[in-house]
Amino acid sequence: GAPEYVSPTGRPTGADRYLRAQGDAYLTTAQGARLPDTDHSLKAGARGPVLLQDHHLREKITHFDHERIPERVVHARGAAAHGVFQGYGTAARITKAAFLAEGVETPVFVRFSTVLGSRGSADTVRDTRGFATKFYTSEGTFDLVGNNIPVFFIQDAIKFPDVIHAGKPHPDREIPQAQSAHDTFWDFVTLHTEATHHTLWNMSDRGIPRSYRTMEGFGVHTFRLVDAEGGTTLVKFHWKPKLGVHSQTWEEAQITAGVDPDFHRRDLYDAIEAGAYPQWELGVQVFPDNPEQTFEGIDLLDSTKIVPEELAPVQPIGLLTLNANPTNFFAETEQVAFHVGHLVPGIDVTDDPLLAGRLFSYLDTQISRLGGPNFAQLPINRPHAPVNDMLRDGMHQTAVHTGTAPYKPNSLDGGCPFLAGADTGAFIETPVEVTQGRKVREAPASYSDHFSQPRLFWLSMTPVEREHIVNAYTFELNKCYEQPIKERALQVLANIDTELCEQVAAGLGLPAPQATVPLAEPAPSPALSQVGATWPLD
Ligand code: HEM
Repeated sequence: GAPEYVSPTGRPTGADRYLRAQGDAYLTTAQGARLPDTDHSLKAGARGPVLLQDHHLREKITHFDHERIPERVVHARGAAAHGVFQGYGTAARITKAAFLAEGVETPVFVRFSTVLGSRGSADTVRDTRGFATKFYTSEGTFDLVGNNIPVFFIQDAIKFPDVIHAGKPHPDREIPQAQSAHDTFWDFVTLHTEATHHTLWNMSDRGIPRSYRTMEGFGVHTFRLVDAEGGTTLVKFHWKPKLGVHSQTWEEAQITAGVDPDFHRRDLYDAIEAGAYPQWELGVQVFPDNPEQTFEGIDLLDSTKIVPEELAPVQPIGLLTLNANPTNFFAETEQVAFHVGHLVPGIDVTDDPLLAGRLFSYLDTQISRLGGPNFAQLPINRPHAPVNDMLRDGMHQTAVHTGTAPYKPNSLDGGCPFLAGADTGAFIETPVEVTQGRKVREAPASYSDHFSQPRLFWLSMTPVEREHIVNAYTFELNKCYEQPIKERALQVLANIDTELCEQVAAGLGLPAPQATVPLAEPAPSPALSQVGATWPLD
C-alpha cells in the first residue's frame, strides 16, 4: 500500500485526522472543535434567514468549492496501482543502478492513462496509452514515463503544444471529446509527416488495448546506462506483459465505451482485488554508445523510429508485479507527479530533442497543477530514499525545516563540507562529448525519412490486422469535414503502401494517388548472431 506519511514534527498529520473524522463518534471543524450537527445551517429562527456567522457552514462549503485541481494538460484520465519491482541482476554489467541488481525489491507506483481525453472520458477510445512507473529506489526516485506505443508523433518537443492542440477537441465545439477522428488531428499529422509512424500504430489494434494488463510499455527515447567503471551503453526500455498483448476489435471498443466507460479502470482494479496480479518484464535493447548514436543506420535520437527486435533483441532485466490498489484516488492517482528527469545513478538521458523538452515540461506543469513547488512532499511523491535538500518555503510547504543555513558550504549547521562532484553514490551526469557547431534551428538529415518505418510496420501485419488498419483509417477520415485533408491523408498512405492507400481511398470514395517517395522493400533481418548478440547481457 501507500507509504505512511510521517510529519517532520512528529505531530499528527492531516491524513490521520481525515481517517479519524469519518469513523469517530463525533465530527469536528478543521480546527478540531466538536460539532453538534452538520445537516442544518445556523439560522435566525427555524425558517431563516441563514446567519453569516456560521463558521461550520462556510468552512464546509468553501472547502468543497476548492476540491478540484486542474486535470493534467495531457494524460488526464488514468488509473493506477502499487506494486513491486524485482531486479534480475542481468543489467548489472551495463548499469550500476542499485534497484536493477539481482534480487533487489523496489516499491513502485504505476499510472496508466489515455492521452487526449479529459478526466471523465471513456477508457476504450482509440488513443495512445501512458505507462508511467515510479520506482521508489534506495538511491532516489526513478520515473520511467513511457507509452504503449514505441514511437512518438514528433521529433522535437517544440512541436508538443501544437500536436496536442491539434489532437484535443476543436476549440469551438469541444468535439470530439476523446478520439482522434477530427479535422485538426488529421490536418496536423498529414502536414507534419513525421507523425505517420505513430499515427499508423494508433490506427492499428495497438490503439485500442483490451486491458492495461495486456499492453506493452516503451520508454520510447534512447537512454544512456552507466556501469560501475563509468562505461556507457545506449538502451531502449520495454515492458512486456506476462498476459501477452491483446486488443479489442473496433466494435468491442465502441460497445465497452458506451456500456462501461470505466472498462480499463475496472479491469485493473478488479484483477488486483481478485489476486490476479498483473506482471510485466522490464527489458532493454542494448546498443553501443558510438559518437553517431545510431544503430544499423537507425538514428537513436529520433523518437519516431524503432529499432526492430530482430536487430536488437529485448533482454529481460526485471519483473514488475502490481499487487495493491490505491486507497484514495485523489491522493495517489491524481496527485502523483512523474518526471523523466527523476533519474538515479546508472541511468542517464541522451540528446533526443523530444526528451530535452520533456525534461523541462513536467516540473513546470506540476507547479501549476499541484499548486506550487512543494508537491514532492505529498505522500505519493515522497522518495523512499532520505531527502536532504536546500529547497525552502513556498506554497503548501508542510515540512518544518531545522537549521539556519540552507546553503553549502556553511559554518553554522554542523559545518559539514559539501564535497562538490565527489562520487559518494551521487547522480553525476555522464561527461559525454557534445558536438560543436553553429546555433541552428534545424534537424539532422536522417529525421526527414518519415515513411520507411511505417512501411516496415505495415508489411509486418497479418491480413486481419491490415483489414483493421484500413477500416480504422476509413472510419476516422470519413469523420473529417475537409476534403483536402482526406486527400492529403491518402497521399501519406500512398507513401506507405499502395494497397493500403487504394483500400482506404475506395472507402472514402476518392481516387488513390501515386507515391511520391520510393517504396522500399524491408531489408532482410540479419541473423541475431551478427548484430544483437554482440551486446548480450549474459
Ligand atoms: C504526461 C508520456 C512527450 C508533456 C505524460 C504521461 C505520460 C507521458 C505517460 C502521464 C503521466 C502520469 O500518468 O501522470 C510521454 C511520452 C512522450 C511524451 C512517452 C514521448 C516519448 C511529451 C512531451 C511533452 C510532454 C514532448 C512536452 C514538451 C507532458 C505533460 C504531462 C505529460 C505536461 C502532464 C504531466 C502532469 O500533469 O503531471 N506524458 N510524454 N510529454 N506529458 Fe508526456
